[in-house]
Amino acid sequence: MPEDYFGERVAARYDDDPVMFDPGVVGPTVDFLAGLAGSGAALELGIGTGRIALPLTRRGVPVHGIDLSEAMVARLRAKPGGEEIGVTIGDFASTVVEGAFSLAYLVFNTIMNLTTQDAQVACFQNVAAHLAPGGCFVIEVGVPGLQRLPPGEIFQPFTVTPTRLGFDEYDIAAQGLVSHHYSVVDGSFTVNSVPFRYVWPAELDLMARIAGLTLRERWSGWLREPFTSDSTAHVSVWEKPA
Ligand SMILES: C[S@@+](CC[C@H](N)C(=O)[O-])C[C@H]1O[C@@H](n2cnc3c(N)ncnc32)[C@H](O)[C@@H]1O
Repeated sequence: MPEDYFGERVAARYDDDPVMFDPGVVGPTVDFLAGLAGSGAALELGIGTGRIALPLTRRGVPVHGIDLSEAMVARLRAKPGGEEIGVTIGDFASTVVEGAFSLAYLVFNTIMNLTTQDAQVACFQNVAAHLAPGGCFVIEVGVPGLQRLPPGEIFQPFTVTPTRLGFDEYDIAAQGLVSHHYSVVDGSFTVNSVPFRYVWPAELDLMARIAGLTLRERWSGWLREPFTSDSTAHVSVWEKPA
């Protein structure tokens, strides 16, 4: 099992993120996913505390989740409706659950939590094995920020506020980065560093092809904004042949 970077300390504060829990972010995400799920069921890889799974379930889409963090899933369980969502504890690159799904989704940059190319490819193959014919796999992830990194520089700030600092530390040769989070919480200074493997849209398309999926849509956001050379993130949809 990969290392769990979402233990008790992170899980306790996870839902405090004002941006990702904003209804203006969650609403379009759920609309997009519900439209693709249709009358079928959805599989969320890295279900976490249910930010997306709970409202998607309320929209009538049955959701099953996979996550390796018991602490995150305990937060989901404690919420209204959380007990009704099936969750399998395991690594989403390899964990097998019962059922055939019309939709699988992996949002909020979580594909990058798999820190090797092999693991990311295995994730696509695992998803493909869980999709019903015609089913879709959706990924929301940032475009690697190398264009904004001056030559020779390896650190890039992603948050600078009086109580929170965040820097990505790039390892370009290994296609990896470590996100360092420094926060003041209740008067104490906390540090959390998490490793990622950044991945390009074209590489994801190749992983999809290896898994027998084909690109159906690519947008820069959940409202189907165009994906362009200036986009800093993308929402991509691959399809399993009918
Ligand atoms: C950034 S959170 C996203 C949670 C939720 N999807 C959301 O949008 O709020 C990433 C989640 O993925 C889980 N995770 C990371 N790597 C994983 C892996 N290899 N297998 C299963 N779960 C994983 C973490 O435990 C965490 O709950």
